[in-house]
Amino acid sequence: MTTAHRAACVIGWPVEHSRSPLIHNYWLKRYGIAGEYRREAVRKEEFAAFIGTLAARGYVGANVTVPHKEAAFALSQPDEGGRAVGAVNTVWLDGNVLRSTNTDVEGFLDNLDACAPHWHRDAAKALVLGAGGAARAVIYGLLSRGVDKIVIANRTASRAEALQKAFGKHVQVAAWARLEAELADTGLLVNTTTLGMHGQPALALDLARLRRHATVADIVYVPVTTPLLAAAKARGLATADGLGMLLHQAVRGFALWFGKTPEVTGELRALVEADLETAT
Ligand code: ATR
Repeated sequence: MTTAHRAACVIGWPVEHSRSPLIHNYWLKRYGIAGEYRREAVRKEEFAAFIGTLAARGYVGANVTVPHKEAAFALSQPDEGGRAVGAVNTVWLDGNVLRSTNTDVEGFLDNLDACAPHWHRDAAKALVLGAGGAARAVIYGLLSRGVDKIVIANRTASRAEALQKAFGKHVQVAAWARLEAELADTGLLVNTTTLGMHGQPALALDLARLRRHATVADIVYVPVTTPLLAAAKARGLATADGLGMLLHQAVRGFALWFGKTPEVTGELRALVEADLETAT
């Protein structure tokens, strides 16, 4: 079998918190693939040497997490999505060439499609909160699906303006202080900030002005149901959570390294959710 004895890993510092081993080892077992997926704790100053010797270490590819995503971008051949985001989280060896991508883009879109299949019909305008790397992945993804108007709001306005310049005419900037006024014609609201994350303040936003058919997505996955998603559910709105995005973003790496496109099952979701609950 061509997939026998293949190994991949997640490279980070720290790396203990990563749920990627749980996800990929679930799939390896489920599909009976004789592969391995490990954690590799690698310091910033050692990353270039590590990624340059992946094959010698027995790896066919890797996930890359904090703080190495930009370095991985610079040290590999990124695809179009990776270039648009400026950071990558998945690398694989194609012969001697190290290729890369940012699977947060498809992770976000595939999860949205799975949770709210009609999101696009009602999303002539999307409102994206935040202006970090996750916001770049979300904005690139939404543009690739033809969303006509994307409004970015960020506490630090200059970062939102920089994204507007990078992505062009379909993207606009709104003032963080005027968020509620932006909701009335928003079809899709996406939180990419850390607000609502365990240990962080909740996002203070009254969703009353959102339309009945609007969809609310959050990239935060600890807790799985953030205060924002709870408020959206209470209003009966469609929601897409960060755990779903985390699971969907893992699909492509597994397919590239182990040769099988895996399924995001309810069983996998329950497994990771239980692990997240024990960690908080
Ligand atoms: P990532 O690259 O993972 O998206 P990041 O660059 O640290 O992470 O971005 C975190 C986002 O959360 C930013 O948009 C940040 O806003 P600033 O650019 O103003 O820092 C946002 N954020 C974090 N804490 C916040 C808070 N208390 N209020 C509002 N926004 C906050």
